[in-house]
Amino acid sequence: MANTQSPRAGTTPPDSQPVIELVGGRKTYRSGSIEFEAMRGVDVTVNRGDYVAITGPSGSGKSTLMNILGCLDVLTAGEYRLAGHVVADLDETDLALLRNEEIGFVFQQFHLLPSLSAQRNVELPLVYRGVPRAERHRRALRALERVGLGDKAANRPGEMSGGQQQRVAVARALVGEPALLLADEPTGNLDSTSTNDVLALFDDLHEQGRTIVLITHEVEVAERAERQIHMRDGLVEELSLSKAGAR
Ligand SMILES: Nc1ncnc2c1ncn2[C@@H]1O[C@H](COP(=O)(O)OP(=O)(O)OP(=O)(O)O)[C@@H](O)[C@H]1O
Ligand SMILES: [Mg+2]
Repeated sequence: MANTQSPRAGTTPPDSQPVIELVGGRKTYRSGSIEFEAMRGVDVTVNRGDYVAITGPSGSGKSTLMNILGCLDVLTAGEYRLAGHVVADLDETDLALLRNEEIGFVFQQFHLLPSLSAQRNVELPLVYRGVPRAERHRRALRALERVGLGDKAANRPGEMSGGQQQRVAVARALVGEPALLLADEPTGNLDSTSTNDVLALFDDLHEQGRTIVLITHEVEVAERAERQIHMRDGLVEELSLSKAGAR
């Protein structure tokens, strides 16, 4: 993949431009003749360096919103801009490139490949991007060191604790230097010690200026973020400064 094909090439937005701009976002799911409006007009702006938690009860539309923000699904109505790009205007190839370059994903279930070492797992986004092998190795190791797992580079996921696996997933999300770290229930499968490890890592990343959007139903997790977006029945109910904002 030539760099000149990148939707970002030559159009890298200024730092002042929001990473996420969702205006009037609606999402209707259709199964046969049945329709369900999971998002009913949602506006969300996330600026560079923001740390935002999306909270809300089960079924309120958090993952629906996350799938839109991560360009894993498309809006039924409204407009979504990611790093200045109108997502609906991109074809599949450009969308895949934009997703690969601008977003690092962290999921509740880690989604690591069990047969690959930690280092190989972390390299994957760079493989898709065509980065040469030696550089991939080097950058993956650096990302693992950054999450405190330099000594586990050769271990497979099955040889690591849940918290360590999630930190590998965070390293994989960061290795490509994306504009945005998007995490759906990243601590949902972790015990309290590992949850604290991962949250401490997010705090560090936030201090380093990363943009983080995290979905959680856990109040203690949400309170670590600067801002909380609360969802209820497909609508954003409130935007409030959490305690962390005043720390
Ligand atoms: N593919 C789909 N087809 C039909 N309805 C769907 C689909 N995906 C989600 N929904 C519905 O949309 C609503 C919002 O779902 P969503 O997964 O966004 O909720 P959530 O807030 O992430 O919940 P949870 O906390 O349980 O993960 C739910 O009522 C759900 O049943
Ligand atoms: Mg969900």
